[in-house]
Amino acid sequence: MHDPFKPQKVRITDIEELAPDHKKFSFVFLEDELNEKWSHKPGQFVMLTVPKAGEIPISICSSPTRKGTIELTVRKVGRKTEVLHSMKCGDILGLRGPYGNSFPVDLMEGHNVLIIAGGLGMAPLRSLVWYVLDKREKYKEVYLLYGTRNYEAVLYKDELRRLKERDDIRCLYILDRVETEDDKAWTEKEGLITSLIPEVDLDPSDTYVAVCGPPVAYRFIGAELIKNGYQESKVFVSLERKMECGVGKCGHCQVGYKFTCVDGPIFPLWDTKNLPKMI
Ligand SMILES: Cc1cc2nc3c(=O)[nH]c(=O)nc-3n(C[C@H](O)[C@H](O)[C@H](O)COP(=O)(O)OP(=O)(O)OC[C@H]3O[C@@H](n4cnc5c(N)ncnc54)[C@H](O)[C@@H]3O)c2cc1C
Ligand code: FES
Repeated sequence: MHDPFKPQKVRITDIEELAPDHKKFSFVFLEDELNEKWSHKPGQFVMLTVPKAGEIPISICSSPTRKGTIELTVRKVGRKTEVLHSMKCGDILGLRGPYGNSFPVDLMEGHNVLIIAGGLGMAPLRSLVWYVLDKREKYKEVYLLYGTRNYEAVLYKDELRRLKERDDIRCLYILDRVETEDDKAWTEKEGLITSLIPEVDLDPSDTYVAVCGPPVAYRFIGAELIKNGYQESKVFVSLERKMECGVGKCGHCQVGYKFTCVDGPIFPLWDTKNLPKMI
């Protein structure tokens, strides 16, 4: 029986450089049976043990509809992520989880889905995008809005280019600044991601919204969504806090009476507005 509190050994099978300091790692369990059995929901995270460095919480960026490998996208920001970035295919790490709640994929069934990603926030939302597309008949219209600093910072470039060509999802991409030829080829739209929200052609009362990006943007995205008629109760955001245990024991991730690791990381917009220090 798989024990979610015990790290399982995983091997790196692929490493993709997505953008400066951002790599996507693919893992398989050494225990073959787990590769079929292990599952998660979009928005959940794992605790990854980086040898000789420690554990880090990382969102799962692959979809549970595509079994066999677990994919994590990691930005190099400090010691543990630096050690991880120096690792090679074939190296062995520990992984426990999945932990936390997920985007409400069951509630979203039968409704429109609007996905709003900023920067590295595309990682957990990539899991949701593929989940919804792989179960496309269960959802109405699907929109993806994605904003980054510039083209260089865009994650999953080829994948997102291909998504734009599909007719079962509508994708709007924006850059803070459109300067280089690469920027222009990616999108002509320049500005903040909030400026894309009025362009979305959906019935707001019949739409669930999933948001992940820099927490500073949440207030503005939330306000723009409400202004455009979206319902606070149907908007869900992903939050990050420093974590140690990942299972509600250590209190490191506590905000008010909520533990981000078990009550989150996905919270309704209402919580983030009404509970102190959420964002
Ligand atoms: C639920 C969850 C999901 C996450 N998903 C991802 C992901 O998909 N990809 C990814 O690259 N990172 C993700 N992170 C953040 C990642 O865990 C940290 O960047 C990592 O632990 C940093 O470790 P480090 O030793 O390299 O850097 P540290 O030396 O520990 O930190 C470097 C800098 O990053 C800041 N920092 C570290 N952890 C956090 C945090 N949790 N929230 C805000 N600031 C932090 C520190 O204050 C410091 O300024 C996630 C965090 C959480 C809680
Ligand atoms: S990380 Fe320990 S309680 Fe949340």
